[in-house]
Amino acid sequence: MNNKTILMSLAVGCMAVSSMSFAQQVSGPIVVQGAMPVEAERFAQRLDNPQEIEIGGWRFWRGTVEGYPVVVSETLKGMSNASAATAIAATQFHPVAIINQGTAGGHDPALKVYDIVLGKYSVNLGAFKSPHKQPGEGSDSLQWKPMDLLASKGSAGEDKKPHTIRKFPADAQLLSVAESVKASYSKGNVVEGVIGSADMWNSELDRIQSFHRQYQTSVEEMETASASQIAAAFDIPFIGIRVLSNNITNQGAYDPQTGLACQDYVYQVVKAYIAKAKTR
Ligand code: 5AD
Repeated sequence: MNNKTILMSLAVGCMAVSSMSFAQQVSGPIVVQGAMPVEAERFAQRLDNPQEIEIGGWRFWRGTVEGYPVVVSETLKGMSNASAATAIAATQFHPVAIINQGTAGGHDPALKVYDIVLGKYSVNLGAFKSPHKQPGEGSDSLQWKPMDLLASKGSAGEDKKPHTIRKFPADAQLLSVAESVKASYSKGNVVEGVIGSADMWNSELDRIQSFHRQYQTSVEEMETASASQIAAAFDIPFIGIRVLSNNITNQGAYDPQTGLACQDYVYQVVKAYIAKAKTR
């Protein structure tokens, strides 16, 4: 091929791309996850041309936002549900990004109900090894040590260095896009922080304080770390974004409406991501 032929085929290629719609050009959708109907349905209602799909026990809504493909996923509650819904989304939709969002309980007394935490990383607050105790010696969760379940493929109980908590980091680009729309939020503050996840609702203030001190958790909930772990296994950029619906460290009473505010914030994040993708 001479230079002229190369230029001509490049020009033809460009024409073909520009005649495709933006949605056709992008490689995969953004997946927005929410555990409960109150954490997912509002976003699903904002999709253009939504189509509801049921896979196993999980609901997905496939549609577009400003011409860009977006899938809303109702993961259901808890670590197992979140990881399964993430694996299904990864294999069925091949997303370019996954945002796990919803409500959470405060570990940081400086955070108020309606504040939003952009998870710079998440940790699994359900993976621990207890010290040995004799019958009658009781149980003290403050003595438990974190167990990194990804440290090796052998027995986690025998791992030599498993006792540092595994951090599941947010994708840097998603974090910066999530930061970029902070000014749009008027219901509370938006801060970067650490999300702790487990199949557990902690109401023991000593335990909460110990998590906050040892692992710097800002909030706790039941999905982000497991979704993040699975997204990483598929190499899909991920971020967790959580609104405080309660904070017993400062008497912040539970407010379920916060779940709607979080979806509105994440809608702004998705729009900013799309605007950025369009300039690429
Ligand atoms: N502890 C644990 N999970 C919480 N959630 C909201 N607040 C808390 C909290 N303090 C979220 C979980 C789960 C549902 C019970 O609400 O992520 O989906």
